[in-house]
Amino acid sequence: MKKTLVLKVNSQNPEMKKIRIAADFIKSGGLVAFPTETVYGLGADALNPKAVKALFDAKKRPFDNPPIVHVSYMKDVLKLTREIPPKAEELMKHFWPGPLTLVFKRSVMVPDVTVAGLDTIAIRMPRHNVTLILIRKSGCPVAAPSANLSGKPSPTTARHVLDDLNGRIDAILDAGPTHIGVESTVLDMTVDPPIILRPGGTPYERLKDILKRVELHPVAVAEKELTTNNVRSPGMKHRHYAPNADMIVVEGELSAVVSKVKELLKFHMRKGKKVGVLATDETIEYYKADVVKSLGSRINLAAIANNLFRLLREFDVECVDVIIAETVPTEGLGLAVMNRLRKASGYNIVRVNNC
Ligand code: TXA
Ligand code: MG
Repeated sequence: MKKTLVLKVNSQNPEMKKIRIAADFIKSGGLVAFPTETVYGLGADALNPKAVKALFDAKKRPFDNPPIVHVSYMKDVLKLTREIPPKAEELMKHFWPGPLTLVFKRSVMVPDVTVAGLDTIAIRMPRHNVTLILIRKSGCPVAAPSANLSGKPSPTTARHVLDDLNGRIDAILDAGPTHIGVESTVLDMTVDPPIILRPGGTPYERLKDILKRVELHPVAVAEKELTTNNVRSPGMKHRHYAPNADMIVVEGELSAVVSKVKELLKFHMRKGKKVGVLATDETIEYYKADVVKSLGSRINLAAIANNLFRLLREFDVECVDVIIAETVPTEGLGLAVMNRLRKASGYNIVRVNNC
């Protein structure tokens, strides 16, 4: 067990000395957690196979699921890839730095372990002052999956990172809670039209505005577990975002959803279970459960995305046995929220109609 150094930094006016300490760890093959605009990431030198292997070990992550490589300059993409399609250039101009990860054909300089032996590489430029400085000072592209133990909800605060990884990593840069709260959108640029492999912080609608044609991979919008040979993104086949409790997602028209959630919570409470309900501001007063939490207002999907992972972790702290979650609209960031909720439940979805 190592001692994890916690470096508190001011996100507006970051203390260079602290970022340099973190960068030195990365340079020498160490592991450093840092904030991005989406969630906290756990970084290692993407070109150092030993460091990347240690990254997988620290997270207990399966080796077939490669991390995203983070860069601070567009020109870094040239070294890591074999070709950059014109559409990708346009997207980089529009959305970088920002919550959009692009999948390219990878170059030979990228170690196999960094891309899990794939012929492609996922790259993004995060929109976070501290992180961009950290990457520059590290002097290398930084491989960084979300800084949680594999399978757990992604961390949106330094506290969440420590809860999972204290003693397993060298340091953490703590610059406060992240802004977006769900991970970046992963977009496969090796095909035309490009395909969204994971909905995330850059909404489908915004990509469609620029690209005109963009597809959603069936697994990314699945309402049940799909057995597909077409697993383009290794992360698709692993259980994700899961709290310790069993989880049920109730989907359908809102008034019918509320009735069903009430029925399910009574059923489980009668069985002696500690029940948590993941509600919204508009519905929270309808539920009398052991723990009831609101994701926020249904008309503010950005706030809902921002609260999601924190609330899933809070249910764990309160040791609930079952979480019953309401559906939210699948537009904008709502698509990413529903993707995470469905996956977190292991596709334990109840559909209801109002008739
Ligand atoms: O917002 C984010 O994306 C955060 C922050 C830290 O940047 N990172 C993140 O990384 O969520 P991670 O490793 O937890 O998720 C990366 C996703 C996985 O689903 C993985 O399978 C997919 O990207 N991925 C990585 N390389 C890929 C590739 N070459 N082709 C397709 N999918 C890939
Ligand atoms: Mg992750």
